[in-house]
Amino acid sequence: MASEKPIVAVTCTAPVNIAVIKYWGKRDEELILPINSSLSVTLHQDQLKTTTTAAISKDFAEDRIWLNGQEEDVGQPRLQACLREIRRLARKRRSSGDEDPLPLSVSYKVHVASVNNFPTAAGLASSAAGYACLAYALARVYGVESDLSEVARRGSGSACRSLHGGFVEWQMGERADGKDSVARQVAPELHWPELRVLILVVSAEKKLMGSTVGMQTSVETSPLLRFRAKAVVPARMAEMTRCIKERDFQGFGQLTMKDSNQFHATCLDTFPPISYLSDTSRRIIHLVHCFNAHHGQTKVAYTFDAGPNAVIFTLDNTVAEFVAAVRHSFPPKSNGDKFLKGLPVRPAPLSDELKAALGMDPTPGGVKYIIATQVGPGPQILDDPHAHLLGPDGLPKPAV
Ligand code: DP6
Repeated sequence: MASEKPIVAVTCTAPVNIAVIKYWGKRDEELILPINSSLSVTLHQDQLKTTTTAAISKDFAEDRIWLNGQEEDVGQPRLQACLREIRRLARKRRSSGDEDPLPLSVSYKVHVASVNNFPTAAGLASSAAGYACLAYALARVYGVESDLSEVARRGSGSACRSLHGGFVEWQMGERADGKDSVARQVAPELHWPELRVLILVVSAEKKLMGSTVGMQTSVETSPLLRFRAKAVVPARMAEMTRCIKERDFQGFGQLTMKDSNQFHATCLDTFPPISYLSDTSRRIIHLVHCFNAHHGQTKVAYTFDAGPNAVIFTLDNTVAEFVAAVRHSFPPKSNGDKFLKGLPVRPAPLSDELKAALGMDPTPGGVKYIIATQVGPGPQILDDPHAHLLGPDGLPKPAV
């Protein structure tokens, strides 16, 4: 019987997502309710993922958490909000008399261990994958089957979008209690198989101003942000959904770039202003527009979050040429062989016409490396007990 086992552990993985219609600004800081809806693409976990083990036992004296091998303060408010929320849902389920697959007490303490296979806080949305994975793993270990948007959202707003694969919208909702502020899949993972994603890592440094504080200041001071949320985003959500459903890359790419630019404009409209883009980011923007102008159509699109790294969308038949253009404009300094990670990209020649059209002097080392990936699935459960990050004693296994 499960209840005789000293410890019950579940291990899950969850993906990173990248918004093409940006979330920036909360109407409720406590419940993490946004001022506008947003829409994202879930990236493939073969390249970027968080893995989390959650274990419960009657022998655990307190909740504990380890991130990338380091024990962290379990008392931080957002983590506490997730734990409270999952236990509330577990109690609700039990009191509603649903069958209980894991007859373990909701009051058992939990140990959590989580690792990323990419640098934390490098602007690669690690908190989204992290909190989605936490919500998913906690739900499995406490036997919760309801919508997890609220649990993930309480950790980090954008995390609720990492609960699904493919293309995902986070509907802002209207209710004060946030019950209708939920993430929903717009189109599944395999809907647009030609779509490719290139992450141009410009800097792996921790960012200067986190999203939470940044967007708070924007809500307080930027009239442009208020205008965006009310007058711009609703129509953009509908248009982006159409582009995705019809696999209209021209429309998708242009709107993605415009929305990224408008988000960064609201950052500049914030007082004091916030700037997440670096000189290299701006060079990448220029490169993309020159590349598209040369081809006479939108073949690649960029988007930037709260950091200088670029995320590029393109179709499979353009990847090789665009990577060659990036290599030409940002020649790798030392790690030529490790410049490209993830999906294989064949080397492609760059025509003299395109070289001339890129119209800028190369910046050696500007782009540190590229991760080539694609659209991917939502959170997964790992059945193999070897995958557990916690040992039978409930403590992190030594790193291998
Ligand atoms: C620019 O979800 O990290 O990446 O809710 O305060 O944790 P909190 O913020 P977070 O903000 C993400 C902002 C963004 C845009 C987006 O992902 O939609």
